[in-house]
Parts: sequence; C-alpha cells; structure tokens
Amino acid sequence: MNNYIIEIAYLFATAMFIFSLHWMNDPKTSRRGVVAGAIAMFVAIVATWSAPGVTQHWWIILPIIPAAVLGYWLAQVPLTAVPQRTALSHAFGGLAAGLVGTAKYFYWRYCVADPAMELTTFRMCAIVAEIILGYLTFTGSLVAAGKLQEFKWLPQRPWVYRGQIYVNLGAFALAVLLGFLIVLVPDGSWSSAAFVLIIILSLNFGWMLVMPIGGADMPTVISMLNAYAGLSAVAMGFVLNNKLLITAGALDGSSGLILSIIMCKAMNRSFLNVLFGAFGQVQTSAAGEKKTAKSETPEGAAQILEQASLVVIVPGYGMAVAQAQHRVRELFDQLTRRGIDVRFAIHPVAGRMPGHMNVLLAEAEIPYDRLIEMDDINHDLPQADVVLVIGANDVVNPAARSDKNSPIYGMPIIDADKAHMCFCIKRSMNPGFAGIENELYYADRTFMLFGDAKQVVGELGKQLAGNSGIH
Ligand code: TAP
Repeated sequence: MNNYIIEIAYLFATAMFIFSLHWMNDPKTSRRGVVAGAIAMFVAIVATWSAPGVTQHWWIILPIIPAAVLGYWLAQVPLTAVPQRTALSHAFGGLAAGLVGTAKYFYWRYCVADPAMELTTFRMCAIVAEIILGYLTFTGSLVAAGKLQEFKWLPQRPWVYRGQIYVNLGAFALAVLLGFLIVLVPDGSWSSAAFVLIIILSLNFGWMLVMPIGGADMPTVISMLNAYAGLSAVAMGFVLNNKLLITAGALDGSSGLILSIIMCKAMNRSFLNVLFGAFGQVQTSAAGEKKTAKSETPEGAAQILEQASLVVIVPGYGMAVAQAQHRVRELFDQLTRRGIDVRFAIHPVAGRMPGHMNVLLAEAEIPYDRLIEMDDINHDLPQADVVLVIGANDVVNPAARSDKNSPIYGMPIIDADKAHMCFCIKRSMNPGFAGIENELYYADRTFMLFGDAKQVVGELGKQLAGNSGIH
C-alpha cells in the first residue's frame, strides 16, 4: 500500500475513533460506537501492517495469535468484572508502549551507524516519557486489577505507612532526573545503565502508587491509569513518527482524564483525595447510639407496591453483585401491567463503573425512557408512593446532604428519603463503599427487605404474579 493510501486510512480511522466516542455517549447509539471503534482499529492495523517498510510479517503474526486468544477470553468476563478487565487492557497498553520505547532506544543506540542522528533531543524526550508512563501504567494497572478481583494475597484496604508519599515521589523524581540526564547525553558510557534504572524505578512507582488506594476507589484510579496509557501512546506516536498513534493516544488520554473528573465530581471528591484519602475505612456509630431498623416481608411489600401509582426503583452495586437485573425486569413488567408508573433513578456513580446501572438494565431490556438521571428524578421523588432501593447504599444516604462530618458530605444523592415510603433491599446492615452508616435505613417511612437482591426481587415478582394470576 502506498503512503498516500495509508495516510487516508489513518485519517478515516481517526474520524471513526472520534465518532465512536461520540456515539458511546448515549445508550441508544453505544453499540454503533463500539462497532465504529472496532472498525477504526481494524483499519489502523491493516494500514500499518501494509506500510512499505514492514517486511518481517512473522514477527507480527506470531504475537497476534496469543493476543487474540487472550482477548477472546477476556471478552467473556461477566459485567461485574469489567473494571478489572479494563485495568488489564491498560496494563497491556502500558507494557507495549514501554517495550517499544526500550526497543527503539537500544536499536538506535547500538544498531545504527550514527546514533547522534537518531537520538535527537526531541526523540529522547518522547522515549523517556513513553517508558516512564508505559511501565508505571503496567504495574499500577496490574495491582488495580488484582485489588478489584479481590485476590486474597493483595490487601483490599489502603496499604499505607509513614512517609509513603515521600518514598513514592522520591522514586518518581529520581526516574525523571535520570530521564533528564539521558536526554542531555543519550549515548554516554553510563546512559544504557541509567535507562534500565528508569525502567526499574517506573515499574516500582506504578505499584507503589496504587497500593495505598482502597479497592473500592479503583474505578477512578483505573480511569487515571487510562489517561497515563493514552499519554504514553502519544509519546510512542512521536517516537515512531505515527500520526494515528498521536491522535488515538490523545483521545484515549483525554477521555480517561475527563472520566476521572466526572467520577470525582459525582462523588464530590478531588483527585488528591482519591489518591491519598484512604477512603473506605469503616466508620462505626458513636458508642451508646443504638438504632433499630424496621423490616418487612416480600408479601407485605408486594401488597403496598400494588397500591402505588408511582414507583421509583433505585438500583445500586448490590443489584450488580446479585445479577438481579432480569428479576427487576420481571417486577417492572408486573407493575406496569397494573398501570403503575415505574421509573428508574440513575445515580452517576451507582455501582462501580460509569454507566454500570444503564448497562445492566439495558441487558434486561428495560426501556431507556424509564431510566431517569438523578437531577430529574429528584423532582419526582416527593410524589413517589414507593421507592424501592435495590442494593444501593451511599447514593441514597441523606448524610451527604446534612452531615458535615460525613466523608460523603456534598456528594449529590437520590432523595429516596423524600418519598412516601421506602423499601431497601440488602443482605445486612453492613455499610456500602464509603464505609458509613445510612440514616435512611432508620427513617420512619423506611422498611428493610433483607436478603440477596435477586432472591428478594424474584420473590416480590412472584407475589405480584400470584396476586393477579398474571405470569
Ligand atoms: P454501595 O454504597 O457500595 O452499597 C452497595 C450495597 O449493596 C451494600 O450496602 C451491600 O449491603 C449491598 N449488596 C451487596 N451485595 C448484595 C446482594 N447480593 N444483594 C443485595 N444487596 C447487596 O453502592 P451504591 O449505592 O451503588 O454506591 C456506589 C458507591 O461506589 C458510591 O459510594 C460511589 O462513590 C462509589 N464509586 C462508584 C464509582 C462508579 S464510576 N460507579 C467509582 C468509584 C467509586 P449488604 O452487604 O448488607 O448486602
């Protein structure tokens, strides 16, 4: 393929990547977005492979085979494991960038006639940025994936010690300093050793950066690592003089950064708080304060649901854990058949990844127009006869509005406590992600439905079906 056609293919792929991100913004067009992204990647690979300079085809075919097998296997994971799967993808992306930078440096240093012509200051800056970001993304993402997978040998709680921040920043600063020196002297007698040392320091910095962060904060950290992986791809694009890599890396990096900002905003937290806040430490209520929550049976709750005109369902992480979405669909059908208006209140950070609830409810084919964003549904909640909270906790905790000492103070919430009656499905009185008690459970108009979400929602559906004879 000649260079002119390759440039056109790259332009097409870039446009498709941009459309892909745009379409993924909306559940209605998200499938189209995924297809566009896959087509763009396919075109990019074919165009790069058919460049005139590429002659060693076996070196491309051999790694593609295990990568395709691994990719196929990774695509089969359940939805609840998508955050850790995403972290693994970033790990591979970071490793690829790091290896390309390493290969390029040693190739230019030892295999070309005049290294000074190749190792220009600009290229060396790009290589150093690429290897630091690439290798730290690799180990950081592996630790993030391990924490999310809840490996027993990896502490889920923040792993902190005195002076940790100085050790971490020291390791990073040393890597940057060495990088600066080899940019100035890329072919000195000590430069190769310094290069290897930068790799070791970056690998080390990656895991040390993620270890102090609690398992539950990993989604935000993963999207930050996404931004680092994107930036290392940009640097790789400059090293390889490949415009497509530069634009695709910039899109990847900026979308990761924007996503981190959206998540932090929706949780009312800053980046620094996520990185160093050790969120997720369990808080217990003040001694002597003994509160009791009232509980209800599925039969009793079903009778009240039947009488309602407006029911608002608030899904949360527990619905994802229990994989209760199909039972929720059955319950939705039972209620709507009775003419009851059923709406779903979607909090931007319900669950553990962006769009977690939308994806699960779409899987169960709940109509999109029934999914209402938090700001809009909050206007309806005072008129709701019943709010059914399914495995959500922090996102309905009124402490976010009223308790200045609460770690979630200021986080926007779904006002479930304003409805006429509230049923909360969860297995115990254990706290959610933020590790704090929820006043909603003790409110006068709240009743707990204890049990696994799938089983309790299934029971509610059965009761309603039994009461009406409609199956
Ligand atoms: P959480 O506050 O984590 O509460 C989930 C609740 O589900 C728990 O209290 C748990 O109680 C219950 N649960 C777990 N498994 C269950 C099962 N099988 N059946 C029934 N209930 C079950 O969830 P949320 O309200 O969705 O809030 C999400 C939290 O994650 C927020 O604090 C948010 O800031 C944080 N976060 C979200 C994101 C994104 S992007 N979504 C990213 C980072 C952090 P039991 O153990 O008693 O059952």
